[in-house]
Amino acid sequence: MQTSTQTRLALCQIDDLPVGLGRSFEVGETPIAVFRTRAGKVFATDAFCPHKGGPLADGMLAGDQVVCPYHAFRFDSQTGECDQANVCAIATYPIDVAADGGVFITV
Ligand code: FES
Repeated sequence: MQTSTQTRLALCQIDDLPVGLGRSFEVGETPIAVFRTRAGKVFATDAFCPHKGGPLADGMLAGDQVVCPYHAFRFDSQTGECDQANVCAIATYPIDVAADGGVFITV
């Protein structure tokens, strides 16, 4: 649900997102990683891993999880939860794809 302090912003076109990979964006002053899975799901998370700052957009996808490229910790695409104990979750952001292929993020 969008609150009064959240804003839905145009981010890119769906074809700007490589299938099976991530891409980083600056949304305002917030770095965000956006992923497009091979199954067609699009999701957005914090751009950097809370463990040691790994660039998550450069990580692999394992199903609905992002795998950090530095030490392979995994983060859930919906909840942001990490699979390792004592590692903070990352933020996730609502994202949607319009019928014309426009990708919108809510921050
Ligand atoms: S920096 Fe991401 S797992 Fe270590």
